[in-house]
Amino acid sequence: MKYQEWQWNHLLETHQPTIDFEHKALFTTINDLIRACNMSEEPNGLLVEVALDELLKYAKHHFSDEETLMEKSTYPDLASHKEQHRKFTDLMNNFKTRFMNNEDISNELITFMQKWLVDHIMNRDKVAMKYCI
Ligand SMILES: [Fe+2]
Repeated sequence: MKYQEWQWNHLLETHQPTIDFEHKALFTTINDLIRACNMSEEPNGLLVEVALDELLKYAKHHFSDEETLMEKSTYPDLASHKEQHRKFTDLMNNFKTRFMNNEDISNELITFMQKWLVDHIMNRDKVAMKYCI
């Protein structure tokens, strides 16, 4: 199965320069994973594993930066926002475990990430970053 790479959309901009930079980098990391899935003959090949690990690492780094900014601000929904990050991280770790158990998760993972990330940026980050500019 071939997956379409994601296209950055200006509607996703929060206007917080660091976070917009990192969101674009996150899209690039996701596109690397999509390309790895498209190129790999084995759904659970090393190429996909490397790309998945990079994505997990970058998401962790990004959430940490975002939370640091929000902690310094007067943003009122910090706790529930952090909880969304934690749930996403748990789900991604669960995908990684299933992947390591040789399950082909690519379709489910790519669909989940797109839905979660676009929804999270549009409904959470855009609001939160108004307090962080
Ligand atoms: Fe966020």
